[in-house]
Amino acid sequence: LNYCVPRTRKEIFETLVKGLQRLEYRGYDSAGIAVDGDKNTTTDGINNNNIVLIKKNGKVKALDEELYKKDCMDLEMELDTHFGMAHTRWATHGEPSALNSHPHRSDKNNEFVVIHNGIITNYKELKKYLNSKGYEFESETDTEVIPKLIKYVYDNREREDLSFSTLVERVIQQLEGAFALMFKSSHFPREAVATRRGSPLLIGVRSKYELSAEHIPIQYNTGELSMFKEGVQEKNSHNRPDIANAVNFAEDGKAVEYYFASDASAIIEHTNKVIYLEDDDIAAVVGGKLSLHRLNRLAGEVPVRAIQTLQMELQEIMKGNFEAFMQKEIFEQPESVFNTMRGRICFDTNKVILGGLKDHLKEIKRCRRLIMIGCGTSFHAAVATRQALEELTELPVMVELASDFLDRNTPVFRDDVCFYISQSGETADTLMALRYCKDRGALTVGVTNTVGSSISRDTDCGVHINAGPEIGVASTKAYTSQFVALIMFGLMMSEDRISLQTRRLEIINGLRILPELIKKVLTLDKNIKSIADELYEQRSLLVMGRGFNYATCLEGALKIKEIPYMHSEGILAGELKHGPLALIDKHMPVIMIIMRDACYTKCQNALQQVTARSGRPIILCCQDDPEVSKNAYKTIELPQTVDCLQGILSVIPLQLLSFHLAVLRGYDVDCPRSLAKSVTVE
Ligand code: G6P
Repeated sequence: LNYCVPRTRKEIFETLVKGLQRLEYRGYDSAGIAVDGDKNTTTDGINNNNIVLIKKNGKVKALDEELYKKDCMDLEMELDTHFGMAHTRWATHGEPSALNSHPHRSDKNNEFVVIHNGIITNYKELKKYLNSKGYEFESETDTEVIPKLIKYVYDNREREDLSFSTLVERVIQQLEGAFALMFKSSHFPREAVATRRGSPLLIGVRSKYELSAEHIPIQYNTGELSMFKEGVQEKNSHNRPDIANAVNFAEDGKAVEYYFASDASAIIEHTNKVIYLEDDDIAAVVGGKLSLHRLNRLAGEVPVRAIQTLQMELQEIMKGNFEAFMQKEIFEQPESVFNTMRGRICFDTNKVILGGLKDHLKEIKRCRRLIMIGCGTSFHAAVATRQALEELTELPVMVELASDFLDRNTPVFRDDVCFYISQSGETADTLMALRYCKDRGALTVGVTNTVGSSISRDTDCGVHINAGPEIGVASTKAYTSQFVALIMFGLMMSEDRISLQTRRLEIINGLRILPELIKKVLTLDKNIKSIADELYEQRSLLVMGRGFNYATCLEGALKIKEIPYMHSEGILAGELKHGPLALIDKHMPVIMIIMRDACYTKCQNALQQVTARSGRPIILCCQDDPEVSKNAYKTIELPQTVDCLQGILSVIPLQLLSFHLAVLRGYDVDCPRSLAKSVTVE
């Protein structure tokens, strides 16, 4: 929303489209935009603040092209104050199509338009109710109930002076599920209202002048809530002076722009000053002033939201000379892993200090077990470090997929410590598991890459992995940094265990040279490309290993599914004879991971079993291992490191392989079909 900043409509389009493009990596199937029109395009001719909606199936580029085809809009027209909004959709209810894409509208005159991230679980009931009141639906989405509902509340208002944000407040009282919402209305021109519950939303503020505030006060609704129920309109809602507590960034007529987004990368080129909204916050901009309010004050809640300064640089979310973000991020790993350790390990004293955990360390040490919870790659980081954590903490460690953990109603106790591992910090399943454990009194620890994310805010304490923004949908550098962060946690826990000092020292020394070893692994890229040249037409690829490298098999197989769309399975070599061996013949591509660790002999047995069935394994092994090499169809030789860190090195060739296979198969590496970077719905 630009307030007193003259912008041409073309500039407004460009800003919105660029914002969408910065988020393209999160996955989407259609896109849409809402802006003010400049000719009266409404059917009834009453509404002069008409809103134009433009929606398109497919890529943002298709939407961008469409924008310039509209003859009802003058592109060069300067708009002094204007609120436009845009959205990319990832289908949950209803197929990808222009009709199902956002913004959704209240009626043919576009009186209220809404964009939504998340899922409305009670939409069927609401739709039925609104249908019975004569509201007609045009899409198959859950979202469409929201603009219809706000129009219903507006049409049935008893007082004339209901503010836009009060209408929104009434709407969200009726919604169940997860949402980040933006509302625009022709009844409230040049005003914006936003709210969230369970899905991320932030507000960037940009002004030519120093921002005068560090905090935004929140206003609480102290009056009784006005609920909308069948047949009853309760009257006693409190008429709040919405703007009383607003922060006037636009003081003395200064120009200011507000950027609402679900992810900082959409706005970082405009401003690094942001406010993260909390669940049930309602933000409104009226006359250039920003106000925040919420329904009820919760116990212990701080009545302000801080304006934070983001450290992220635009350059960090640009591809540079790489073909794809995924490739860039794979090659960034020497630095990203270093950044995870930076300032946290003292190599002179062998001390490891994770600032976000130190105040809770005593409590963590008293616990009965550790539970590591995550989804996808983040879950694999838990599997990868489980053994080292069991060894260093001497506690039982459970590793859990968030969805399954919830499905099982897993017993959780007050003396459990639960870790939530999530690159984005927003994954719905992980977030729900967090709420589940909080309700049961466990101590909660976040391990995320996203400062200000829901998981980093809602946990009692935590570690930021500091890998820098990860844009590629297939997680790469976040995995290795999660791995390192969890190992550091183990080292911190074992600092005063005399019996563990030799082991600690070995691991700390391993971490010290890790970035150099990663650089060496990355030099194998050509070798891996040539293996991809051989494999890319195959339908299947098995990845086998055990012990410290089992997680590498799971993670490697996931990469090969996600980007080249090849069937792939990560197989625990110990289970080989219990089923997977039946798949092995001379045609089945197999990758085996055989490192010089405690499982070496057992892995060699598995190798014998594979070669005895005419299998032709490609083997990831340590340098100079003639014993293994002689049975291999091909080898990828890796530098050797401490056993519990070896998985950081062994996963990189599989990340590279996934990338090359996808390129050779002609797929878009950064936009894999049907996948999203951040899955904020259950
Ligand atoms: C999605 C992404 C995966 C990611 C998983 C967990 O499925 O496509 O790459 O591993 O979510 O995401 P998180 O942000 O919680 O680590």
